Amino acid sequence: MDEVQQQAEGVSYAPSPPEEFCGREEERERLSAILSRTGERGQAVMISGPPGIGKSSLLTWLAYEVQERPGGMQSPVLRGEIFDLPGMIFSAFRELQKDLHNHATSGRFGDILGSEGMQEAIRYADDVLAKYAAPVEPVGLLSKTGEEIIGIFARSPEVGYDRVRQAFGELLWELGRLMAGTGRIAAVLLDDVHLASSLDRRLLRDTVHDLPPGILLAFTCRTEDGAGSGYATMQEEIRDLGSPEVPLPGMRAHEIREMAKRRFDLSVGDGAAGMLEEASGDPFSLMACFNTLRHRGLAPSPENITDVLAGAGEPAGLAFAVLDEPGKAWAEELCVLNPPFAVPVMACMLKLQGMSVALITDRMQESGIFRRLPGGEYAFAHPLLQEHCRRELSTGARTALNARAADCFERTMHRLSGRLHVLLSLACHFFNAQEYGKAADLNLELGLRFYHREDYDTALVLTQRAVTSAEHIGDDALLAAARQQRDLIRQKIAGPVEAVR
Ligand SMILES: Nc1ncnc2c1ncn2[C@@H]1O[C@H](COP(=O)(O)OP(=O)(O)OP(=O)(O)O)[C@@H](O)[C@H]1O
Ligand SMILES: [Mg+2]
Repeated sequence: MDEVQQQAEGVSYAPSPPEEFCGREEERERLSAILSRTGERGQAVMISGPPGIGKSSLLTWLAYEVQERPGGMQSPVLRGEIFDLPGMIFSAFRELQKDLHNHATSGRFGDILGSEGMQEAIRYADDVLAKYAAPVEPVGLLSKTGEEIIGIFARSPEVGYDRVRQAFGELLWELGRLMAGTGRIAAVLLDDVHLASSLDRRLLRDTVHDLPPGILLAFTCRTEDGAGSGYATMQEEIRDLGSPEVPLPGMRAHEIREMAKRRFDLSVGDGAAGMLEEASGDPFSLMACFNTLRHRGLAPSPENITDVLAGAGEPAGLAFAVLDEPGKAWAEELCVLNPPFAVPVMACMLKLQGMSVALITDRMQESGIFRRLPGGEYAFAHPLLQEHCRRELSTGARTALNARAADCFERTMHRLSGRLHVLLSLACHFFNAQEYGKAADLNLELGLRFYHREDYDTALVLTQRAVTSAEHIGDDALLAAARQQRDLIRQKIAGPVEAVR
């Protein structure tokens, strides 16, 4: 039997491990062809498709193909992921840069990447990326109340966007140059760019525009996204730049049979596979269906599959139905958080402060609902699970959990490293907890900060929250200031459009 990633709750909903990856021959061939052209000329490719179709899994396969496969390219991979918290400027690019630093200082690629020129380019990019996004000095942020946080942000970043672009570009050119000397290539992978805010998109676009030979830039983008997806814009942009798109369709019957066998040790007949192809075909739904069959001890017959799918509702609901109660409770309590989840915040949310970190993280891993991120933080195994949990919360529970989250961030702030993430999370949780006094000040101040960094979309989200909060607390002066700031941002957003007209 092929090895199955068996979790206590079934097979994990995290992106497929490469050794369990099934089907997608055509898409893999396209990616392999793009890889083979990379040495001559830098290549960019967008992997696209609806939620749960297998984009992150294909990216994971690509990472394995480039870096790990025995007899393969054995070339370095840098990987970053974008999460659903607007305003995390360049945090995914900093992950890429951190990966490069690790490669340059590790045994495996250290010989090739450890050159003085590379070290210098890494230091410079690190400095510039940090300066652009950093929320100034951390000491003042240790204070416990919203009011004290106010007023400590720099009004404008110390460096302009052009220096960020130049520093990141130089990093890739240096990497490409070193790769050329060895006949290898390097792959830069970015997951979920549909969640990127405008500055990250700008840097992505500029990077695609100026890719050196030896570098493959592959990124994934959801084609549907509730929050006004930027997929259409992204598609147009990469088309203009002459880069290909690899769209993922639903799985075909033979791929479904392979997946059932390899990942669940279930033998699905032609009839049942054809039915599944027609009913859903997206791998997330298939995972939910096969996990349910296995949990209930049912054979994958057409009748049983019909039965499972009939009462199912949305696939994430099906996935949840078979979880044990403690797993469900954890998922519910953590779903209001913005990933990545730091362990101290999770422990506080779950009221497990007395428990050892090792025990908490073991349990997170075992549950199969969460996955561990490279930096030691956590996220839901799949975003559809978190989105489902959030939708299911009652208004009262949502408010209470957000209040708890705000409190947990205030308590654990001194142990958390990502200042920007802390501030943005607090701004979000105060607002969702209806603690409008604190929410108004913090969102207004942060909104201004993003305005100065020319991230107008994030600035608008934050400032709109400040307007709503000021209305709730009936503070006229604050409301006037918030409205003025909002108008200013709207003008900036409308600006270029008007100029074109
Ligand atoms: N080719 C595949 N072989 C085996 N399992 C797969 C494959 N593709 C996807 N899966 C499984 O299906 C589920 C959804 O896949 P994945 O997370 O890659 O989708 P996605 O398109 O990235 O979703 P999202 O848009 O939410 O990010 C995961 O549990 C994954 O393990
Ligand atoms: Mg994904």
